[in-house]
Amino acid sequence: YLQLHTWAKYELARRYGQPVPKRIPAHWLNNRWSQEWGGLVDAIDLDRHFTNRTPEWVTKTAEEFYVGLGFPKLPETFWSRSDLFAARPGEKRLKNSHASCWHIDLQDDIRSLMSVEPNAWWFNTAHHELGHAYYFISYTRPEVPPLLRTGANPAFHEGIGELIGMASLQTPYLQSRGILPADHREDETAALLDFALGHAIPFMFWSSGTMTHWEADVYTRNLPPSEWNARWWKYVQDLQGVEPPAGAGSRGEEWCDAATKTHINDNPCYYYSYAIATVLKFQFHDHIARRILHQPPQPCNYANNREVGEFLRKMLSTGATRDWRLLLRETTGEDLSTRAMKEYFAPLMAWLEKQKVEQSRIKEGH
Ligand code: ASP
Ligand code: SER
Ligand code: ZN
Repeated sequence: YLQLHTWAKYELARRYGQPVPKRIPAHWLNNRWSQEWGGLVDAIDLDRHFTNRTPEWVTKTAEEFYVGLGFPKLPETFWSRSDLFAARPGEKRLKNSHASCWHIDLQDDIRSLMSVEPNAWWFNTAHHELGHAYYFISYTRPEVPPLLRTGANPAFHEGIGELIGMASLQTPYLQSRGILPADHREDETAALLDFALGHAIPFMFWSSGTMTHWEADVYTRNLPPSEWNARWWKYVQDLQGVEPPAGAGSRGEEWCDAATKTHINDNPCYYYSYAIATVLKFQFHDHIARRILHQPPQPCNYANNREVGEFLRKMLSTGATRDWRLLLRETTGEDLSTRAMKEYFAPLMAWLEKQKVEQSRIKEGH
């Protein structure tokens, strides 16, 4: 994280013609909570490849990923009862634009709330949400009693969506869907850098850091409301290395910035699951790439691979009837571990180290 943080603040200072700060000003990043740092790698701009696509196409393509793995089509009612696209201008209702997916009756009434747009972020998110839908579908069977129709743990539920979201951004898959041209030349370092920033490393410090620590203070340590905003920004500064737009101390207690995050309001004490899900997605991906596909994990494509589908279906169909630790060990041969994540980014780490050496050479005038 320190390496990426340093790379990002140098890059952003250059971009905005500013001195290099100690912490990154929040408004230099394009996510309100600095939770994911997309759009920093010039060489990777997927959004321009989505301009001629529709939101419907994005959602249907996500369904096809699962169908290609051997899962059934989504029930018809998914399409008629979900609310998948942004509210139209002039519509009177207010809509939470944060994506979610719901198992309404613990049977086959499955619905999703999204505001899908044709861009890379929603492409990834649509694949994530349908991960929940296919987990619901997989454990809805007579052998699994309704009370156990849930993930092996909440992080498993998030991890499956994360895994398929990750798979959906890999270059060979994007080429197979005609999003990237067939002759697209991958800049592997840029791709790893973009993925680390947008979908992995800063997110760990936000999810297991700011969100989780702040909620623990509020719910188990009785932090008084008069200190909520100061504590929030203390964690943003200390754990994420990010500062409020107007500088340290500028967000007083008249604000409750934590409450701008939907999970703080409607899904309390759940967010640590996304941190663990991020660890799990690399473990699952590593297992699929190396053990099932016999490919290196960085760019690999498992669209339409029935063996991968079978691996997932087996894991998902148990719902919460098995202890997640045993399930993880049985399916991947490993306990919860950041090994796979570290190995995935090892080439990036080597590149970042080299940038640092070059930076210090420049500083020393060599
Ligand atoms: N994609 C959203 C997020 O992960 C909602 C979800 O969990 O499905 O918060
Ligand atoms: N979907 C979760 C969020 O938005 C985790 O990525 O915060
Ligand atoms: Zn989710």
